[in-house]
Amino acid sequence: MRPRVFIARPIQQIAIERVAQQCEVQVHTEDAPMSAAQLGQAVSDMDGLMSVGGNINEELLVHAHKLRVVANIGAGYDTIDVAACSRRRILVSNTPDVLTESTADMAFALLLGVSRHLLKADRYVREGSWHYGLWNLLWGTELFGKTLGLYGFGRIGQAMARRGRGFSMRILYHARHRVDAKLESEVGAQFVDFKTLLRESDFLSLHAPLNPQSDHSIGANELAQMKSGAFIINTARGKIVNEDALVQALKSGRLAGAGLDVFENEPQIHPDLLGMENVIMAPHIASATAEARLRMALLAAENLLAAFAGKRPPNILNPDVLA
Ligand code: 8YV
Repeated sequence: MRPRVFIARPIQQIAIERVAQQCEVQVHTEDAPMSAAQLGQAVSDMDGLMSVGGNINEELLVHAHKLRVVANIGAGYDTIDVAACSRRRILVSNTPDVLTESTADMAFALLLGVSRHLLKADRYVREGSWHYGLWNLLWGTELFGKTLGLYGFGRIGQAMARRGRGFSMRILYHARHRVDAKLESEVGAQFVDFKTLLRESDFLSLHAPLNPQSDHSIGANELAQMKSGAFIINTARGKIVNEDALVQALKSGRLAGAGLDVFENEPQIHPDLLGMENVIMAPHIASATAEARLRMALLAAENLLAAFAGKRPPNILNPDVLA
């Protein structure tokens, strides 16, 4: 009997076909999240699930009597209760690496966009406000020699460091684990404690996973320690930042601006952010390039098929289940 697999989004046909070579596939054809009840129903007689975010928790798993594999199409897995899956001997995998460069591109795009008022500049031209050259028009902040602080220093943080170096920035990072000296010197980044990172960054870019340590780790207290006129960039997870405190810091002028791809209660946005000229926002699309999204779908398929073939999925998150 071929395993039955539910694919929770209409992903690229080539990835669907890859899975269909070995499994009975059912695809949710609407590119929208399913409710918990819908997903529970959909996976009730499935052996595998290719998920795109969404809550994979006890509430869902009680319906998933046959489920053996969850292959998430995405790197972050904060919405997956991996321990609950392990208890049911369900293998869980994610898709790191393949979206690193695209995500760092977006973080850097937000950084450049907010520091050079790109959205305002675009609007100024479109609205016909450009009648003559003003000396004092849309002055921004130069990156050369400025300090880029990275909170979290996994693959995406490191890719961001490389970009910062290309712009002659000084790179500081803080993370749970210090990387080895060779890597530090290769990307030109210096490890500092969290307080130093907050105090010295002109641009603070977040690249930590969401977990109990990072949850709301940037709040009023931390923002108050930042340089006056600093910028914050978030392409990681919205809940790392207390959005109310962020709004206050932007209003008070302590922060000069923010580039946000993720939000505390996305897709709901703090209403005050919507009216702020010094904030650039995007709808959680940092990994959304054609290249990265194809690699993500194919890698998730590879993880899923490896599990069904009795092999170790390349990106397994709960190897204890294999033991
Ligand atoms: C989204 C991401 O998951 O990989 C991650 O952790 O946040 C993104 O790539 C992607 O949009 C799929 O939901």
